[in-house]
Amino acid sequence: MSKFVWQHKDLLDVDNLSREEVFYLMDSAEQFQEVNSRPVKKVPTLRGKGVILFFAEDSTRTKTSFDIAGKRLSADTFSLGKSGSSINKGENLKDTALTLEAMNPDILVIRHPANGAAAFLAERLSCSVVNAGDGRHAHPTQALLDAYTLRRQWKGEMLNKTVLIVGDIAHSRVARSNVKLLSFLGVKVRLFAPKTLMPRHIDHWPAEVSDSLNKGLEGADAVMCLRLQLERQIAGLLPALSEYAARFCISSKSLALAAPEAVILHPGPVNRGLEISSELADAPNSRILDQVNAGVAMRMAVLLSLGARHDLEAWSRNASETGRE
Ligand code: CP
Repeated sequence: MSKFVWQHKDLLDVDNLSREEVFYLMDSAEQFQEVNSRPVKKVPTLRGKGVILFFAEDSTRTKTSFDIAGKRLSADTFSLGKSGSSINKGENLKDTALTLEAMNPDILVIRHPANGAAAFLAERLSCSVVNAGDGRHAHPTQALLDAYTLRRQWKGEMLNKTVLIVGDIAHSRVARSNVKLLSFLGVKVRLFAPKTLMPRHIDHWPAEVSDSLNKGLEGADAVMCLRLQLERQIAGLLPALSEYAARFCISSKSLALAAPEAVILHPGPVNRGLEISSELADAPNSRILDQVNAGVAMRMAVLLSLGARHDLEAWSRNASETGRE
């Protein structure tokens, strides 16, 4: 029987992953969740590998979970942020990345405010590059951990389930990656946002745009609230935050229209009372902390796939040089 071999050097978004690869990552994450519940939460799989976390934008969940994921796989992880680095002295992205690569990491995990920053580095670096969020473009590990959380919730049945994504879709890399991945897995995706926070060309997305919140919620199996990304918005997109909250904040009352077992997701960080009510964020059907927990396991699966790929390549080179099978 042929063993599954990870083919990609980088993880930049979800759209070049096959179903087999997505399910491989989800199955690996399942196994790592078990490892993460043990008294000793460590496996030796990436011993001797170096993982650099280069976060030029703030992060709590993604950065910490990649760091924990690397350490639990026994890799050495090193963190670099915008603050405290030579980016603040004017060093550009390419030079920063080439400098980091000269220190021989195996994997570079990057978060950056510019769309395409991860792809720019992946073209220039020989180490693996993982996109931990680039501008409003993509956040592949968030989409993978969200799909994983829903797959667990639905006991493996994803086909024809319905997810409503609601909020600041225009500025959301989470929405972009999630729409691609969930629709690819057979989930029906609905979108609802103020007109000013809906992306242009939304009719090209594999999703249905709801013309009211109630229609979007009707029978939905899950609702994913998005953070209002005030740091990326230009002035004037919203009349007032209180008005936004009155029309778009999701509460337990809103969920009465959804399917009886509907769950609530939010990638975080949460603005309580703005996009989701505080009581719903803490309610039994909230999966927000399950998403965080799944994030460590999914990032272990991603780091292992990319990190172990190098060993397989080296083994295969060695095998062909020595004529061994
Ligand atoms: N969901 C997410 O990317 O959260 P952080 O910004 O805290 O990493």
